[in-house]
Amino acid sequence: MRTWPYPAIVAHRGGGKLAPENTLEGIDTGARFGLKMIEFDAKLSADDVVFLLHDDDVDRTSNGQGAAKSMTYAQLRALDAGAWFGKEFAGAHMPTLAEVRERCALLNMAANIEIKPCPGREVETGERVAREAARLWNDAEPEPLLSSFSYAALEAARDAAPTLPRGMLYERVPADWRAQTAALGCVSLHADHRSLDENLVREIKDAGLRVLAYTVNEPERARLIARWGVDAICTDRIDIIGADFLNDASK
Ligand code: G3P
Ligand code: MG
Repeated sequence: MRTWPYPAIVAHRGGGKLAPENTLEGIDTGARFGLKMIEFDAKLSADDVVFLLHDDDVDRTSNGQGAAKSMTYAQLRALDAGAWFGKEFAGAHMPTLAEVRERCALLNMAANIEIKPCPGREVETGERVAREAARLWNDAEPEPLLSSFSYAALEAARDAAPTLPRGMLYERVPADWRAQTAALGCVSLHADHRSLDENLVREIKDAGLRVLAYTVNEPERARLIARWGVDAICTDRIDIIGADFLNDASK
């Protein structure tokens, strides 16, 4: 099994539910709560800038409207990506991967880069995100962990940056997860925690893979799946499932 240098608790979309998702302010919030690793969603603008956004369109998490795939990064950057969450976050923007790398370096934060392509751009997004990640995190410890729900994107990422660790993401773990993760050379399998049970976690671990479960917001559930052997828990509730959650016997 390849080494797994990642912490047990990962802040979902930067700062979980305590800050606007996929922003530098979110990463700062994760750091303020003591988290050592964040997950975030990366995609391409129309002019091929790698930037952070979860949805296909900008409507839910900014003051703009429309499909991200048809907007240039200059157009995306002009939008406010913080005010929708709270007025104290007004002025936040959708950061580039380069800005995120800089902030992670400053805060000593490990990264799970989820490749989240705009529809139809799976291969080029996988390729570009992986290439940029390899360049930006050059010599960084630990290396960024790439993941995606898109097999095509992760395959392109593998070809563009073969040495970066990869994890296949599943909402429901399919019957052929062994073949998929082997073909992609994955170090980990990432799954919705509701699709996991103790036996499946054991099978995945026995296959030599690590397991990351998302999005676990109940402390009781986090403790249970950690007992099953889940290696990393991605959470929105960094206020109650913090960096030391699993080490703290009183919890
Ligand atoms: O990478 C884990 C998790 O972020 C996947 O779901 O929809 O929050 O990107 P989503
Ligand atoms: Mg994600």
